[in-house]
Amino acid sequence: MKQMNSYIDSVFSNEDDLLEEVVSSISGAKHVLEIGALGGYSGICLARGFGKEGTLTSLELKKEYAELAHSNLTKAGFGDQVTYMTGAALQSLEQLVKSDKRFDFFFIDADKGNYEQYLTHCIELAKPGAVIVADNVLAGGSVADQKAAPRRHTEVMRTFNKTVAQHPQLESLLIPIGDGMTVSKVKK
Ligand SMILES: C[S@@+](CC[C@H](N)C(=O)[O-])C[C@H]1O[C@@H](n2cnc3c(N)ncnc32)[C@H](O)[C@@H]1O
Repeated sequence: MKQMNSYIDSVFSNEDDLLEEVVSSISGAKHVLEIGALGGYSGICLARGFGKEGTLTSLELKKEYAELAHSNLTKAGFGDQVTYMTGAALQSLEQLVKSDKRFDFFFIDADKGNYEQYLTHCIELAKPGAVIVADNVLAGGSVADQKAAPRRHTEVMRTFNKTVAQHPQLESLLIPIGDGMTVSKVKK
């Protein structure tokens, strides 16, 4: 697994960085929800995928990270197309569900212990055919290695990956580049 990742990284130097942009662009998404903004790196990738006409709603626990991300998206030319909701993402998701908002692309990249709940809310907020991407699902490759000492998120990610693979409302695959991303289509 490690060998395979090193090979992919050596040939496609920043493939995992581009993945969010490529997948959101191929899916034709215009209204994107991101969970976990940090400095806005993934936000810029997602915005490049939807271009001038899309919107990004980004959920971030810390106000200072949301401000940093907003300033970086502004530098990248997307400042007017992004809205930040600060505080615990679970609360923001509940608010969005109540307000009848719907999205066609989701990027889950915050606290791993809540991934299952984030997935459930994303499905509630999804337009038919929407795409849900979750990052870091290989937990450094540890999910596939029964002999390795478990890392912090090994069991959480094993369980999450099973849920995604078996979910009756999703058609899913796992792309093993970077730290692994699940890509799921919400059935119409
Ligand atoms: C891995 S970083 C996100 C990186 C970003 N998506 C990128 O690729 O540029 C995870 C982010 O999730 C945020 N976070 C952690 N727990 C959260 C929670 N309960 N609700 C919302 N955001 C949370 C952290 O503050 C951090 O900024």
